[in-house]
Amino acid sequence: MSENHTEHHTDECQETDARMDRNLALEVVRATEAAAMASARLMGQGDDLAADTAAIAAMHRTLSFVDIDGVVTVGEGLEGDAPLLYAGHKVGSGVGPRVDIAIDALEGATIVARGGLNALSAIAMAEPGGFLDPPPCYMDKIAVGPDLPLGVVDLDATPGDNLNSLAAAKGMPVPDLLVCILDRPRHEGLIREVRKAGARVMLIPDGDVSAVIATASGGLDIAPDIYMGLGGAAEGVLAAAALKCAGGQMQGRLRLRDDKDRAAAIKRGITEFDRKYGADDMVRGEVMFAATGVTPGALLQGVRRVARGIVTHSVVMRSKSGTVRFVTAFHDPRRGCPAMPQ
Ligand code: FBP
Repeated sequence: MSENHTEHHTDECQETDARMDRNLALEVVRATEAAAMASARLMGQGDDLAADTAAIAAMHRTLSFVDIDGVVTVGEGLEGDAPLLYAGHKVGSGVGPRVDIAIDALEGATIVARGGLNALSAIAMAEPGGFLDPPPCYMDKIAVGPDLPLGVVDLDATPGDNLNSLAAAKGMPVPDLLVCILDRPRHEGLIREVRKAGARVMLIPDGDVSAVIATASGGLDIAPDIYMGLGGAAEGVLAAAALKCAGGQMQGRLRLRDDKDRAAAIKRGITEFDRKYGADDMVRGEVMFAATGVTPGALLQGVRRVARGIVTHSVVMRSKSGTVRFVTAFHDPRRGCPAMPQ
C-alpha cells in the first residue's frame, strides 16, 4: 500500500465501466467521513449503541446524496435488527448504477465507547452479486500483505507451519514476525501456539477489518505481518474487499454453529458450509473500498476537532486501478457541509 498522502497507479487508469465510475469512489468516502464524524463525537462516553446508531444514521443520510441505485448486501444485520442499512436496504439517490454495498458504519463501537484506538467507518461497493452474503456468524480468517507467493499461508495449516512458511517467504526469522489476533478467550489456544512458534503477538481489543488492512500497509510504524483468528463474517467480507484493492491474500471460512445458522446460510445461497473462501470468492469482480478513521489508528488518523471545524482522514481504494488514495478533509460547519453531524 502506498505511503501517506501519496497515490500510486499500478495500471493506466482506463475507465470504461460506468457502473464503477472512479468518481463514485470519491463520492462514497463522504459517507464514511460523515459516519466517522457523527460517532467520534461520542468517543469515551461509554455508549457503544449510541455511537453505532449515530454512525449508521449519518452514513445513510450521506449515501442518499450519492447517485447510485444501491442495495446493502452486507450490513448492520437483517431487516428488523437495525432501522437502516440492514441487508436488503436500498440506498443512494436511486439514479445511477445498480451496485451492491457492504458496510460497517462503525467498526469498533466498543472502541469508541471506551475512547480506544483503531475504530473506523468502512464501505465497499461492487457490482450486483459481488459480495458473499454471510449470515450473522463468525468467520475463521487468515490474512497477509502483498508480494508473497500465492498460498504462502493457509487456514488449514497449523499456526506454526504458517509462520515458518511466511518467515521463509519474507526472508526473516519467525521471532521477527508480528501476528495480530483479537484478544478473546476463544483465541487462547491460537495465542499459545503462536508464542510457542516464537513469533511476536499483537492482541487487539476489537477491529479486525483495520487489522487485516494493516497487514498490507508496509509503510506503517506498526504493521502486523499476519492476521489470524475468528471474527465477524461481515467484517471478513469487508476486509477481503480492502485487501483486493490494497494487495494481499486472505482466506475465510464461516463458523456456522447450528441448524439455524445453516438454514440462514442456505437462504443466502451458501450451501458449502465448510468452504474455504479466498478474497476473490468473498468479493467477486471489481470493488472499491473507502474507510475513515474514527479514533486514532495505525492506518488512519482519527477525527480531530480543530479551531474552525473537523478534520477527517480516509483511505479510498479501487481494485481495478490499484489506486490507493489517502484523503485528509477539512469540514467547515459554518458552510452547511452536508456531511457534518446535525
Ligand atoms: P463491530 O464494532 O462492527 O461490531 O465489530 C467489532 C469487532 O471487533 C470486529 O472487528 C470483529 O470482527 C468482531 O467485533 C469480533 O466479534 P466479538 O466481539 O464477538 O469477538
